[in-house]
Amino acid sequence: MEENKSVVLQLKNVWKLYAMGEAPVKALRGLDLEIRAGEFVALMGPSGSGKSTLMHLLGALDQPSEGEVRFENEEISRLDENQLAELRGRKVGFIFQTFNLVPTLTALENVELPMIFQNVSRANRRSRAQTLLERVSLGERLHHQPSQLSGGEQQRVAIARALANHPEIILADEPTGNLDTESGEKILRLLKDLNAEGKTIVLVTHNPEAAAYASRIIRLKDGHRIEDLSNPKIS
Ligand SMILES: Nc1ncnc2c1ncn2[C@@H]1O[C@H](COP(=O)(O)OP(=O)(O)O)[C@@H](O)[C@H]1O
Ligand SMILES: [Mg+2]
Repeated sequence: MEENKSVVLQLKNVWKLYAMGEAPVKALRGLDLEIRAGEFVALMGPSGSGKSTLMHLLGALDQPSEGEVRFENEEISRLDENQLAELRGRKVGFIFQTFNLVPTLTALENVELPMIFQNVSRANRRSRAQTLLERVSLGERLHHQPSQLSGGEQQRVAIARALANHPEIILADEPTGNLDTESGEKILRLLKDLNAEGKTIVLVTHNPEAAAYASRIIRLKDGHRIEDLSNPKIS
């Protein structure tokens, strides 16, 4: 681990409970965690262990039931919905297993969308979206809609979209879960390149080969962190 780098994400005794009738689901149970700038973390663990819940907290999409979540030392439970949205929009890029592109928009328009919310001018949006799509090797697919693209291509559009507002942190929740091996490897190599450029990455995966791209591997079980290793092959 890079001890000299600043802590970008910090959880202190974080609990997340979901109200479900009589017995609430305890998705996270007293989690402590620090993630430093420039780390590439693979988050593993069985289905239901709390991985997505943790990702939502790391990305300020949700608030803990108890405990503190600090984003660059800012305590997110003190922020209101507008401030949370602002923080997400500027600092975090999300990539999901199901791509979550807007089906009626072209690749270019999907990548432009987050920039609209940050008031980037039309001309600048266009040119940045194009540059980003070229970066993920989709320069020939700018005007395709999601249904006209393969899964791997759609996920690369989603990566370009995640990069639109120059986020410091990329959160990818099983981004290769719906892809064939070759398309998945392309996504992982892109994440690796982004990490080499200094972005902090958290990748949820079930696949040990995908986790091998990371510099640190954290395992969750029943809302607890049961293992936290630096990857000897990388760091
Ligand atoms: N919105 C929700 N409402 C109720 N229970 C939820 C909700 N989201 C997740 N859970 C429950 O919390 C636990 C952790 O879920 P999740 O974080 O999605 O795990 P993972 O991503 O590791 O599969 C599971 O038992 C799940 O059923
Ligand atoms: Mg999940």
